Amino acid sequence: MRRALRSVFERIDRFFDIAFTPAWNPMQQLGALGWFFYWIVIVSGIYLYIFFDTGITQAYHSVEYLTHEQWYAGGIMRSLHRYASDALVVVVFLHLLREYVLDRFRGPRWFAWVSGMVLLWLLYASGISGYWVVWDKLAQYVAIATTEWFDSLGIFGKPIARNFLNHASLSGRFFTLLIFIHIAAPLMLLFGMWLHIQRHMHPQVNPPRGLAAGCLIMLVILSLWFPAMSQGPADLDTVPSIINLDWFYLFIYPLLDHYSGTLIWAVVAGGTVLLSLLPWLPAVRKREVAVVHLDNCNGCARCVADCPYSAISMVPRTDGLPFEQQAAVDPSLCLSCGICSGACPSASPFRRRTALIPGIELPAFPIQAVKDMILSKTQDLAGNNRVLIFNCEHGLDLAAAPMTNFAQITLPCVGMLPPSMIDFTLSRKYSDGIFIAGCREHDCNFRLGNEWVQQRLARQRDPYLRERVPAERFTQCWAGVSGFKQGLSELEVFQERLARLSPPARQSPESRLRDGKNAECANA
Ligand code: HEM
Ligand code: SF4
Ligand code: SF4
Repeated sequence: MRRALRSVFERIDRFFDIAFTPAWNPMQQLGALGWFFYWIVIVSGIYLYIFFDTGITQAYHSVEYLTHEQWYAGGIMRSLHRYASDALVVVVFLHLLREYVLDRFRGPRWFAWVSGMVLLWLLYASGISGYWVVWDKLAQYVAIATTEWFDSLGIFGKPIARNFLNHASLSGRFFTLLIFIHIAAPLMLLFGMWLHIQRHMHPQVNPPRGLAAGCLIMLVILSLWFPAMSQGPADLDTVPSIINLDWFYLFIYPLLDHYSGTLIWAVVAGGTVLLSLLPWLPAVRKREVAVVHLDNCNGCARCVADCPYSAISMVPRTDGLPFEQQAAVDPSLCLSCGICSGACPSASPFRRRTALIPGIELPAFPIQAVKDMILSKTQDLAGNNRVLIFNCEHGLDLAAAPMTNFAQITLPCVGMLPPSMIDFTLSRKYSDGIFIAGCREHDCNFRLGNEWVQQRLARQRDPYLRERVPAERFTQCWAGVSGFKQGLSELEVFQERLARLSPPARQSPESRLRDGKNAECANA
């Protein structure tokens, strides 16, 4: 099922890439859009609260005043408040589904997944309690159904639904409590959202401006077209018969009319527990986490800046070398992406005197192994359009391409590639060109790998690609797993371009031998 859903998501992604451009693709901004809709809800909510009267009888009239008398401001704010809350539900469910389908919820990502489950509850507590405070017929229905549902738990001394028996039984204090819940739940949601992204370096909490502006304009148009309305004042002496539900938040209520409250509790609580356990069903088989080689760590902290999961910190030096700090990896946070070794200045393949051991690397995928592969895989290539592809396990795979004269090295993430490897491969003539193939733009499996590669190659981020590397001899293709066709055509164009360039001098067998010996010395 996951594979089928994945292909659906990829198709939608491709369509949105064309419609919105990859940078504005809303499917890749779901978490950030969640934050954006949340802020709209808060700002519009503050405006409404200024005019809202918290008394039982006055509440309805104050909302009516906002809706009709002040339709140009209060009315729009009310509608924005409702529609942004609905949009929040939509993006949160798509976000949940996407993380599940792309298998980005296991291993150390369990924290984001489980905290996401808590966010779902807080989101529903915020939304449902919002329907009470208007105190119209829908509010009456929701308040009674909710309290009866809670009463079915049997944990309250006196049934709380009794508060709604008739107008006289509803105390002002109880109504104030309902309003308090509607303020406290969104605040707790905000705290939860902050906690949710604590393990992410540079979390994306703001969508691109154009996308945000487009969403806001759409919500304003919707607010003017279908303004949010109340459904007549609540009257506890009558039972509301026809009610329009907001299906985004209240879909469970019709079920409460047909099934017992305890059964619905069992389904909702059981579903939450089951979903929360998903990261361990089964647990991901992880590569060994990154290790620090102190002899080669100068404490520059580049790995800290590039680790997408805040798994590295700088700690006081322990080995007596003349540096203040050293890198330390927290194994419980590391996703074994290798991006840190791509950032480490001591991962340079040009080193001859000492073995190629960087300050930090993956034990199962050492940097020396990458250099060895460059030497071995390019051995049989010939001609003037030899291409070495560096791709990523989660991104575009061109191994089955029908062209000849290329070799492919698959890394856990292309962000693991130190720019000096490109310089090394081209300057030592192991290939005529380098083709970097990764996940789709803004959709890196390890969040920031493709962004860091782009910045390093554009000489905007340390470690920079050296100026001497000719720009026409390397290219990047961010087509993702489903982008085989696009990858093929870009590879074809690149090989044609290389063939037109004057061929570089061949690698002399002696220097290949020298680099190889160096590799052996490093392996020893
Ligand atoms: C109010 C609701 C939510 C908001 C605003 C939100 C927002 C975010 C943001 C901004 C990120 C970081 C994206 C990035 O920079 O890479 C993120 C990551 C994540 N979220 Fe949510 N989220 C919400 C609810 C949920 C829910 C309900 C789930 C699932 C149960 C979930 C699962 C995840 C996971 C697994 C990640 C980590 C992805 C990764 O490490 O690549 N989130 N979320
Ligand atoms: S990037 Fe390398 S040298 Fe710099 S702190 Fe990290 S491990 Fe040490
Ligand atoms: S392997 Fe990835 S997650 Fe682990 S420390 Fe390095 S950059 Fe961070």
